[in-house]
Amino acid sequence: MTPREIVDYLDRYVIGQNDAKKTIAVALRNRWRRMRLDEEMQREVTPKNILMIGSTGVGKTEISRRLARMMKLPFIKVEASKFTEVGFVGRDVESIVRDLAMTAMQLVREEENERNKEKIEAYVENKIIEKLLPPLPDGASEQKKADYEASFARMQKKLEAGELDHLKIEVEMPPPSLDLSGGNVPPEMANVQESIAKVLGGLGKKGKKKEVSIKEARKILAAEASNELLDEEKLKEKALEKVEQGGIVFLDEIDKIAVPSNVTGRQDPSKEGVQRDLLPIVEGSTVSTKIGPVNTDHILFIAAGAFHLSKPSDLIPELQGRFPLRVELSSLDEEALYRILTEPANSLIKQYQALLAVEGVTLEFADEALRAIARYSALANEKTEDIGARRLHTVMERILEEISYDADLHSGETILIDEALIDSKLEKLVEKEDLTRYIL
Ligand SMILES: Nc1ncnc2c1ncn2[C@@H]1O[C@H](COP(=O)(O)OP(=O)(O)OP(=O)(O)O)[C@@H](O)[C@H]1O
Ligand SMILES: [Mg+2]
Repeated sequence: MTPREIVDYLDRYVIGQNDAKKTIAVALRNRWRRMRLDEEMQREVTPKNILMIGSTGVGKTEISRRLARMMKLPFIKVEASKFTEVGFVGRDVESIVRDLAMTAMQLVREEENERNKEKIEAYVENKIIEKLLPPLPDGASEQKKADYEASFARMQKKLEAGELDHLKIEVEMPPPSLDLSGGNVPPEMANVQESIAKVLGGLGKKGKKKEVSIKEARKILAAEASNELLDEEKLKEKALEKVEQGGIVFLDEIDKIAVPSNVTGRQDPSKEGVQRDLLPIVEGSTVSTKIGPVNTDHILFIAAGAFHLSKPSDLIPELQGRFPLRVELSSLDEEALYRILTEPANSLIKQYQALLAVEGVTLEFADEALRAIARYSALANEKTEDIGARRLHTVMERILEEISYDADLHSGETILIDEALIDSKLEKLVEKEDLTRYIL
């Protein structure tokens, strides 16, 4: 995708914040550009990591969430505040790379499944029909074999037409995985775990047999087929290439591991520890994972934080320097809030309409009402804390509280939300600052 296409895509869901969108789009395009250079040059071109700064609720996480859906690249989003320094109990930062590697593996597997779709489907069909037909005894006559093939073909037709979907068959469930790690076990240990699981499996504790509908059996057998037909080692190789060349890590809440300098007293060792642990990974080092050692030189890092209580300069200097591109996200004004309410593909208004449509209630909003919602939200943000677009959620809940509560009594009706209703619900609240503080 060209930078413009990426921005266009993001525009469908995120209002404004053009600088951030552009910077990210360019960074993504640069990875593609790099892949087209000769090898020596490729090695030299390292990604420029991005730091997104913007107060709470202005779309930082939203941008990354949308990117994640769109990307055909290994992409994970992690919260910096969840990690602990090496040596302390908790997840260490290397697990980011391990998770990214698993994402890549998943991606590659899906791609290969797609490419081998026909083979996998044939495998699944054969397995199902074999279970449905009485088996052909050894040394059956030519006549019997021909009969068998004929009924096989007949079954195949029926199966394709979905006529057999109500039947149940017995399939072998995949052996339970012995994954106790939760992703925090070094791969050497994970491998040991896997070997143990395999040995146990070999000792006859293979998957349990279970009776399931054909529909479910298809899924189980497709996974089995994918394991049987695809070469695990090849997948790993491809996944490795994909992570190293295309991996993207979105480090959210990075400000939560910064230690504000104005806080007197001791520095927080664990936060700084996490920052220090991040350094080699961001700069480029090798982390061993289940799919092999992953070099992080060319993985793109996008960090984001509100930096309310701390500043980017409160991060340790080495880490600051590793995020050379800074983009600021602007706070949302009334106009932006109005657009967020109405424009995005599944905007808040559309969500409420859909929810109430389930009850048979048609919800309509007058345009002045929408403007009023945006106005009150902006006002509440101004008077108390600025919580960005999240304010719209609290305001909307407030407005639709009663309608939501007895929607079932209004089934079949159309309810028009007009400016007067909004005023009656919100005017008093917004006037009094402490009411706003507690209720909105
Ligand atoms: N610019 C925007 N366009 C559309 N929706 C937005 C925008 N900004 C925020 N939102 C909506 O507001 C909510 C919160 O946004 P988001 O999660 O991106 O906040 P954030 O910037 O990550 O804040 P925090 O620093 O608190 O994590 C989401 O539901 C999102 O849909
Ligand atoms: Mg966020």
